[in-house]
Amino acid sequence: MAIPQSFLEELQARTDIVDLVSSYVALDKKGNRYWGLCPFHSEKTPSFSVVPEKQVCYCFGCHKGGGAVNFVMELESVGFVDAVAILAQRAGMEMPDTKDGQDTRKKRERLRILNKEAARYFHGNLSAPQAQNAVAYLNRRGLSKRTITNFGMGYAFDTWDGLIRAMQKKEYTKRELLDAGLAVESKTGTIYDRFRDRVMFPIIDVRGNVIGFGGRVLDDTTPKYLNSPDTLIYNKSKNLFALNLAKRTKADRLILTEGYMDTIALHQAGFDSAVASLGTSLTEDHARLLSHYTQEVVIAYDGDQAGIRAAQRAITILNRTGLQVRVLRMTGAKDPDEFIQKYGKDAFQKLLDASENQMEYRLLQLRNQYSFDEPSDRVAYLQDAAGMIARLPSPVEREIYGGRAAEAAGVERNTMLAEIERQRGKQGWKQKKQMERKALAPAIQAQPKERQLRERDIKSACAEEGIISLVMADPVLFNQIQELDVNDFSSSLWRKVYQEARNQWQETGAVHLTTLAQVLTPEEMSRLTGVLQKPQVLSEAEQAISDYSSLMQRQRIKREVTEDRDILSLRNRKKLEEP
Ligand code: UTP
Ligand code: MN
Repeated sequence: MAIPQSFLEELQARTDIVDLVSSYVALDKKGNRYWGLCPFHSEKTPSFSVVPEKQVCYCFGCHKGGGAVNFVMELESVGFVDAVAILAQRAGMEMPDTKDGQDTRKKRERLRILNKEAARYFHGNLSAPQAQNAVAYLNRRGLSKRTITNFGMGYAFDTWDGLIRAMQKKEYTKRELLDAGLAVESKTGTIYDRFRDRVMFPIIDVRGNVIGFGGRVLDDTTPKYLNSPDTLIYNKSKNLFALNLAKRTKADRLILTEGYMDTIALHQAGFDSAVASLGTSLTEDHARLLSHYTQEVVIAYDGDQAGIRAAQRAITILNRTGLQVRVLRMTGAKDPDEFIQKYGKDAFQKLLDASENQMEYRLLQLRNQYSFDEPSDRVAYLQDAAGMIARLPSPVEREIYGGRAAEAAGVERNTMLAEIERQRGKQGWKQKKQMERKALAPAIQAQPKERQLRERDIKSACAEEGIISLVMADPVLFNQIQELDVNDFSSSLWRKVYQEARNQWQETGAVHLTTLAQVLTPEEMSRLTGVLQKPQVLSEAEQAISDYSSLMQRQRIKREVTEDRDILSLRNRKKLEEP
């Protein structure tokens, strides 16, 4: 543990979350909680609540929440330690000088230098005779020498230890190569290069540090790209490719693409504001990062169905951070790289200029779903479009887009506007209802929105959630469930929380949310706080715990049976594929 438990406990005791939150948000007291406008998403009616008794806050709209530390992490975009430091200063406490903290700092620094050395090595390789094919490949993709240098691209030889040997000469250890994700360990304990016979794209953060790599094969074999795993210095959900270059652009908007090659091709064609997400769909961290450098983002994703869906998702996430969004519509090419190769940069500039703002884009998507041959199509379009437009907060915008949608459907403008207002009333009511229902739901009703938090066994996860909410409310209950095995948990989140909380209880006789914040991601912490918001009936706790435990054990057996079956059928399939 980086920061001593005793320090965190004192910090928690000296920090009042109501005080803290009200220095950012105006709060109103209703019953035993306080309400205010959520600082994490824009809204007109308060759905952000603070519960002094539990020292937590939670937004029923965007589901963010946690203890004081999480609140500061989220609001100030800082990590756990920095958030603790901010709170410590507020509470007049001196931060402990942790040896752990220093060690990690040193390790990070070493990994950064190692990555830089590796990038140099890969780049240098391009001049070697063994890199002939790679150089030919890059030329075939139309990349100039200048572009290759600008992006520090390189080549990983077709050997098992080219990089390892080069780095060991520079005194890097096996451990460090593994920690950097540059080497992989085999079952026998020997290590080999992760990237072999691939063209290499260094990933550079906004401060100019090389933090990881993507590597592409030279042909059609799969996987097409290999990427560095997340390490001490690299997190693909928090970094964007080429933002180090794009942040210097004079352009008003950043262009967001899906691929390394798209972004590189755009830069080469003079669009120096292009960035790419790194083989993962756009996250809120990405959006926040973008919002530090621009107010408007143009989404230039692939033109296929997957790209369209990803764009729609991205719009929502970008909007949440207050960014303006435009969507570029591409036809005749599958991605921006191919488009520029085929039609040139002027044509791309035209696309940029014509890029639609998100409402136009969505309305167009919607219109394409209907043929308008039947009057019923028209009605359906009108209703769907009105539903979309009704969510716009600005009356002027509702007016404008309402007019356009009316024109597209060939209906009276006033009919459309009336429908929009009607749906607006309905939505407001629906939202309120939904909020109430969520607040009162006894157990999980819907899967969490964050994909990485989705449960594979909902039934069991409900019971697990129940157990967590009870033991967090009254840790003495841990004494009653000593026979519960951590492997009975199907949900990795609830298992982690359970283990961590139980350890804390055993070591210190208490469970503190602040300490949990150290081992959980902000998303996980929000999820946990969401659960802790729900009322618990402690009078029946013992019975409930025993019901939950036996359900979990039954579900575990069921899961193991199906998993065995899946493994068997997978094996059979493999056999068929490998004659
Ligand atoms: P694409 O398949 O669209 O690749 O994947 P691309 O960037 O257009 O590359 P080329 O033109 O085929 O060379 C988009 C992005 O998804 C990630 C990479 O970040 C890639 O740039 N990806 C794709 C992977 O991480 N692994 C893969 O196997 C494929
Ligand atoms: Mn491509």
